[in-house]
Amino acid sequence: MKRHEDKTMLVTGAAGAIGYATCEILAREGAQVMLVDIDGAKLEERVKALSDAGYTVFGHHADCADEQQVIGYAEAALKAMGRVDGFFNNAGIEGHLAPTHEYEVAEFDRVLHVNLRGMFLGLRYVLPDMVKRGAGAVVNTASIGSERGLAGACAYNAAKHGAVGLTRTAASEVAQRGVRVNCVMPGVIETPLLVGMLEQMFDDVAAGMRKLGEVATLNRVGQPAEVGNVVSFLLSDEASYVNGAKWEIDGGALATIRNDI
Ligand SMILES: NC(=O)c1ccc[n+]([C@@H]2O[C@H](COP(=O)([O-])OP(=O)(O)OC[C@H]3O[C@@H](n4cnc5c(N)ncnc54)[C@H](O)[C@@H]3O)[C@@H](O)[C@H]2O)c1
Repeated sequence: MKRHEDKTMLVTGAAGAIGYATCEILAREGAQVMLVDIDGAKLEERVKALSDAGYTVFGHHADCADEQQVIGYAEAALKAMGRVDGFFNNAGIEGHLAPTHEYEVAEFDRVLHVNLRGMFLGLRYVLPDMVKRGAGAVVNTASIGSERGLAGACAYNAAKHGAVGLTRTAASEVAQRGVRVNCVMPGVIETPLLVGMLEQMFDDVAAGMRKLGEVATLNRVGQPAEVGNVVSFLLSDEASYVNGAKWEIDGGALATIRNDI
């Protein structure tokens, strides 16, 4: 019996690196998966790749920060799969980097709009059916930026701190209705979003990536599937006593102040 046999999963930011790696893992473990993303072309590619591999998947093009479109993807998931057992609330953007005292106000609003409001909207419109059925699991994507400052990323960091607050609050509200809500805190993971940040921080992106990898005691950046494996566990019944938690997937970065580099 596969871990997610007969289960249905909904993933946002699913055309992106962490989202897609997670979809692949969930599908391989037996789940039907609905992929949601704002990037229609990439979404189509991803859905085709999983369908061609023999998995039952659905694609839904939506902006996760637009209320009507969130209502749309929540309804589409119920229509296509009957119910949502697991929801990976993962879409996000890095935003521009600049010191807080110089940060563009419009850019601050844009990043909060997608990363925090988008996450709230996902909870707002996916949780009701789970609560009604008395079953379900949600994983929100926070970040090691939920726990530390990152110079230049005030909007991203504020949103990711907020993600932990949303997680804990929702978890405390729906726990007794049979629904668990947790978050993951990825560290430095090799994805387009990370590259977008590195391009703003370093002239040499590859060297910058190696340098950032050193914040982890494992001394390297992480791969998207290393996040996906933890998400898959948290969305499964094996995590039945995990609720309101934040799981560090950061190669040990938050656990230590490195004094050996
Ligand atoms: N890569 C890292 O080092 C890292 C670290 C911590 C947290 N995260 C978080 O992981 C999540 C996934 O990011 P990733 O690294 O896989 O990057 P990515 O850029 O590969 O994926 C992000 C996906 O989200 C989609 N997206 C963006 N805005 C959207 C919107 N409004 N509606 C729907 N979809 C939207 C993008 O099209 C993209 O496919 C994000 O929440 C990010 O903040 C990443």
